[in-house]
Amino acid sequence: MTHSQFENELTIQEHTEEGTLDEFHAAYEAAVDDIASDFGESHPLWIDGKTVQTDDTFTVRNPGDTEQVLGEFAAGDEGHVDDAVAAASEAFAEWKETSWEERTAIFREAADIVQERKIEIAALMAYENAKNRTEAIAEVDEAIDFLRYYSDELERTDAYSGALREPTPGQRCVSDLQPYGVFGVVSPFNFPFAILVGMTTGALITGNTAVVKPASTTPLTAHTFFDVLIEAGIPDGVANLVTGGGREVGQPLIEHEDVAGFVFTGSREVGLNIQRTFDEMGKRGPVIAELGGKNPVIVSDTADISKAVSGVKFGAFSFSGQKCSATSRVYVHEDVADEFTERLVEETEELAVGKPERRETVVSPLIDDAALERYDDICERARADGTVRCGGSRLEDADLPTGRYVEPTVVTGLAHDHALATDEHFLPFVTIHPVSGLDEAIDKSNDSEYALCAGLFSEDEGEIDAWFDRIESGMCYVNREQSATTGALVEAQPFGGWKYSGTTGKFAGGPWYLQQFMRQQSRTVVG
Ligand code: ALA
Repeated sequence: MTHSQFENELTIQEHTEEGTLDEFHAAYEAAVDDIASDFGESHPLWIDGKTVQTDDTFTVRNPGDTEQVLGEFAAGDEGHVDDAVAAASEAFAEWKETSWEERTAIFREAADIVQERKIEIAALMAYENAKNRTEAIAEVDEAIDFLRYYSDELERTDAYSGALREPTPGQRCVSDLQPYGVFGVVSPFNFPFAILVGMTTGALITGNTAVVKPASTTPLTAHTFFDVLIEAGIPDGVANLVTGGGREVGQPLIEHEDVAGFVFTGSREVGLNIQRTFDEMGKRGPVIAELGGKNPVIVSDTADISKAVSGVKFGAFSFSGQKCSATSRVYVHEDVADEFTERLVEETEELAVGKPERRETVVSPLIDDAALERYDDICERARADGTVRCGGSRLEDADLPTGRYVEPTVVTGLAHDHALATDEHFLPFVTIHPVSGLDEAIDKSNDSEYALCAGLFSEDEGEIDAWFDRIESGMCYVNREQSATTGALVEAQPFGGWKYSGTTGKFAGGPWYLQQFMRQQSRTVVG
C-alpha cells in the first residue's frame, strides 16, 4: 500500500514541541469564558438550505453543571424527516454530477474553517458532553483529519475511477464508483464532532446527499459543523440537519423508503436494528455501522508494569470510559497480578475527576441520568459478586456543581464470563482477571461477541507476534502507555471492529472507507 502525503493535525504535540503549551491553555480558557454568553439560544432544524421551526423543542444542559442550560433545540418528527429526505433526494441529481474536484474543495475549505475555530469548538465540548481539553482538542484535530484525508483519498484515486485492461482489441473498459442517493447519518454523543464530521463527510464527499440526526444530548456541536459546511459552500439540500429523539426522528429516517444507505455509530442494539430494517424492507444500500466494544488488554509477566498501569488507567478512565474503544477488561499474568493491580488502584485514586474545563481533569462527569443509574447498578453488582478495589460511588464534593461526577472503578474477583465482564457499560469501570499465561489470556480476550480494540503489554517479541497472529480484534495496540486501547489516528490507525463491533470490516479513516458509500459501474465501449 502506498502512503499519502497526509499529515495528522496534532495540536497538543505541536504546542509541546514549540514550547507554547501555555498559549494553548490560555486560549482555551478564554474560549470557555467567551462562548458561555451564547448559551440559551434556540436552534431550529436545517432543511433544504433553510431554518425550520418546530412546535416541540427539547432543552440541552451541561452534564457537569446540570443547572446550566445550553440551548433549546427543535424536536423534529416524521414530517420533518420526510421534508429533509425530499430535499436531499432533489439535491442528489445535481450533487452527484458535481465533479470530485468541486466537492473536495468544499470539504478542504471546511477543514480550514474548523482549523481556524478549533479552540472554540473544543471549548464547546466542555459544556456539551463534558470532554476535557486535551481530549476535546484531539477530537477537533481528528475532524480536520477526516475532512482532509477523505479529500486526499478522492484525489489520489481520481474518485475511484479508472481505465481497465482491454480484454479483446477494441473493447475500452472503465470502472467507476458512483453514489447511492440519500444517506441517513446518526451520530453519538461521545465524539459529537469528529464522528459526526467523519460520517457526514464520507457520505457527502462521495456524491451522496444526507439527512443527519445527532445524539439528542449533543446537537450544538452538530449545528457548529453545519455552520462550517454552509460557510464552506455546501449547496442547499445536500446536507440537512434534523435534531430530535430516536423514536421521532431516527426510526422514521431508517424506515424511509427513499433513504438508500445508512451510516451510524452507536450501540449494537440500534446498529443491528438498522441492518434488520434494511433487510426487511429489501433495501440494497449499505449499512455502515461502528458499534460497541468490550476491549481486552493483556499484561504479560514480561511487561513493563509502569507502561501497563498507565495504558490501562487512561484507556479505561479518560472521558469516564464513555468510548466504544475504552479498556474494559484486563487479563494479567498471575505472577505480576498483585503488583499491577495495586499500582493501578493507587494511580486511579489519584486521577482527577471534575469539571472538564479544569486543566487537570481526566475523568469527566457522565452524559446523562441513565448513565448515572447504570453506574450505580453495576457498582452494586460488583460489590455483591466481586471486590471493588477503588471507586464504586458517586463523587460527593461540595466544590463541584450539580453534575454527574463518579469515581473511576477497578474491580477484581469476578469470573471471566460474569455479565459485568462481558457486557459493554460505557462507564469508568474495569475488571481485572489473573491468568496463567498468554494462551489463556488470548482465549479469554477472544471469548467475546465484540472485537473492536485490544491491547498487549509485553517486552517479548515472540509473545507480541503470537498475539498479533491470534487476537480477534479490529484494532490492536502493543505497549501503548498513553492509552491501551483508545485514541486512533486517522490514516495511521484506521478505526473499526469485527464481530458485533461493526458491520462492514472497512474502517473509518482508512483507505477503504469511502468506497463503502459508492457502488461500482463497469463501463465498456466497443470500437
Ligand atoms: N476514535 C476513537 C478512539 O480511537 C473512538 O478512541
